[in-house]
Amino acid sequence: MIQVAVLGYGTVGSGVVEVIERNKELVNKKSGQELNVKYILDLWDFPGDPYEHKVIHDFEVIVSDPEVKIVCEVMGGVGAAYAFTKRALSAGKSVCTSNKELVAAHGPELLALARENHCHYLFEASVGGGIPIIRPLNDCLTAERIETITGILNGTTNYILSKMENEGADFAAVLKKAQEKGYAEQNPEADVEGYDACRKIAILSSLMLGKHVDYSKIYTEGITKITAQDFALAGKMGMSIKLLAMSKEVGEGKAMAMVSPCLISREHPLHMVNGVFNAVFVRGNMLGDSMFYGRGAGKLPTASAVVGDVIECARTQGKSNICFWDAKEADLVSIDEISRRFFVRVSDAGESQAKELFGDLEPVRADGAEGFAFLTEQLTEKAFAEKYAQLGEYALGRIRVED
Ligand code: HSE
Repeated sequence: MIQVAVLGYGTVGSGVVEVIERNKELVNKKSGQELNVKYILDLWDFPGDPYEHKVIHDFEVIVSDPEVKIVCEVMGGVGAAYAFTKRALSAGKSVCTSNKELVAAHGPELLALARENHCHYLFEASVGGGIPIIRPLNDCLTAERIETITGILNGTTNYILSKMENEGADFAAVLKKAQEKGYAEQNPEADVEGYDACRKIAILSSLMLGKHVDYSKIYTEGITKITAQDFALAGKMGMSIKLLAMSKEVGEGKAMAMVSPCLISREHPLHMVNGVFNAVFVRGNMLGDSMFYGRGAGKLPTASAVVGDVIECARTQGKSNICFWDAKEADLVSIDEISRRFFVRVSDAGESQAKELFGDLEPVRADGAEGFAFLTEQLTEKAFAEKYAQLGEYALGRIRVED
């Protein structure tokens, strides 16, 4: 029998216990032996909970118990979670986590610690919730040079944008409803400003490049400035607006990473990803295009990914997962040098100025939308920003286009 400890009895933690219990027979069969949750660590007690007798408050009990071989860190944050993960790995206990902040910030160090101590640090649930993406990148696509990863990696913002598109509603109204229904946090900043997607694309970019991508250096723009009028005009062009997290190889060992709302056409595979769903679109130099789709959040999908990692630890005890994620920092190029098209909105009075700056443009108008919109030719971010600034008071907004 393998004893497991769960750190954090919140949404994901209680899901981990539920998956292990509900799928007990097959989890044990696939692990090659019985798995048992021996401890649940939390600050609180849970009177009446069927597992209340397993709840403890002292991490020392877990780290000093030689029977505990696998620890699920589903507490979140980079404080106690970081300290506990290091202690567990140093004691030779494998750690499985959904904690994207911790993986993005300290992934290489924790992987190295796991290697030194012949145990695993697995983090399938940290990106895309229940969608298998970490192990495919690490194990299945090892023969590929990955050229691009483009993801819809945040369910809250995808839900908000889908609702805005379908209902013609503005951001603030949809966010309020999403908060009332519990689909968005009361403090939605991490989601709507793109910080959550930024951590996730930092992890995927690090795996793509084999070097550490510092999330604080990723250009990140959220969805708070997207309006119903943007959707009306984009719709007229046959396009939608999604919050994309992107990483592209742009030359020998160099990459571009960015989180930004983008217009995508109806032909783009990510166009059909709506509501709380996530997807990761991967282009490899041999494979071509591939897409991973599913539930990027939620109790049971995320817990299922954590338990999948637990089973992997159980099957391969005494070993350490191979993960090409060097502590050496990846070379990220400035987005100024990246070329793309842009969607621009201009007031009617600015039409001749826009034509002078951007050439022969095709104005698109929609009922209820102020001014008009057009798509530019391919321009570097820098060249575009200079032209856009010259629109002055005529400029009503701009959104990147992902072709
Ligand atoms: N807040 C995240 C989301 C949860 O909306 O996708 C999963 O990381």
